[in-house]
Amino acid sequence: MKRIIYAASWMLSAMMLLSCGNARRAQAAPAEQVSVAVEEERPVGAWTPIRLSQQAVSFAAEGGKTLVTCLNYDHWWLNDAQVAGTETFFHATPGADNTYQTLAGEGISARIVGRNQVEITVSPSKKARAWELHLQAGDAFTAITVKQDVTMKTEKITNPTLESIAARTSVRSFTDQPVSEAQLEAMLRAAMAAPTGMNVQPWSFVVLTDKSEYEAIFKNNFNLRIFKSAAAVVVFCADTTVTRAPRNNPDAAPVTRPNGTWRDDMGACTENFLVAAASLGLGTVWTASYPYPDRYLPIKEALGLPATVVPYCVVAVGYPDKEVKPKDKWKPERIHKGRW
Ligand SMILES: Cc1cc2nc3c(=O)[nH]c(=O)nc-3n(C[C@H](O)[C@H](O)[C@H](O)COP(=O)(O)O)c2cc1C
Repeated sequence: MKRIIYAASWMLSAMMLLSCGNARRAQAAPAEQVSVAVEEERPVGAWTPIRLSQQAVSFAAEGGKTLVTCLNYDHWWLNDAQVAGTETFFHATPGADNTYQTLAGEGISARIVGRNQVEITVSPSKKARAWELHLQAGDAFTAITVKQDVTMKTEKITNPTLESIAARTSVRSFTDQPVSEAQLEAMLRAAMAAPTGMNVQPWSFVVLTDKSEYEAIFKNNFNLRIFKSAAAVVVFCADTTVTRAPRNNPDAAPVTRPNGTWRDDMGACTENFLVAAASLGLGTVWTASYPYPDRYLPIKEALGLPATVVPYCVVAVGYPDKEVKPKDKWKPERIHKGRW
């Protein structure tokens, strides 16, 4: 293409030079303005591909909406969206408000939002389907797979462990029914089964049932009313240091250093306790202690914790005095597959 344009402009210049001599002899004609459009020669396939925020989008049977972003938007403006079905290929056509509706009406539509986002809408369906959505930015095309997976909804796996996890919810008022030693041990066994960084197991537990001491232990703690209602209160204590021989010299004398993962370890331990309690039909609430000095310092002092040990959290446990329904926190849109 470039070569053809160069040839055309060369011939034009030559013709103009030849006519110049005649013009000088005769009357000078006004110079004609000739403009030649110069096109860049671009090899096929040299286009920068559009980078998208997601390679694939999954919808459950209920359908829904999602936004996919063109990441290299400094260079590209999305200007077309087309949907190709896996069984039958069909194009989308622009409708009102720049909305692209599928001609086949197969339950998917794509709408370009601003310069670099496309909004994909999938309507509810009872069968699993997949489409390819073609996006165009400038002269570059890219495809994104849009899947509607009905099995995500219909095939719900459950078992007693999953049921206990789902049943756990924060309970803040309890009946007078006590919790047995065996129940407490079962919950503490679950707590101590948690994973910990380098298997340090930084935990210790103080089990409290004498409510007359709570005012002193939980001075100014706004959870006091909850603790007083509970059958038992467990203070989860964490040693924030670890004492062992240096890693590169196992025969050397043990040294004490900060434990980098104690808070992670204690979180796993506490959650195990709560889930075990739920499996026994007991209610619990996890209340924060560390790192709030006004809460953890009175507990640390009243219970005589060693210098390197902190009361990480306080859990109240007992039989719920009313039904408390767990919150539905399932958000499939928080799950990204392959990349964000
Ligand atoms: C680190 C942490 C600190 C918490 N502190 C308190 C607290 O001091 N008092 C309280 O009533 N609930 C406390 N909670 C419970 C949360 O409010 C509760 O878990 C959250 O609202 C979600 O509700 P759910 O437990 O019923 O799912 C705490 C939970 C966590 C994980």
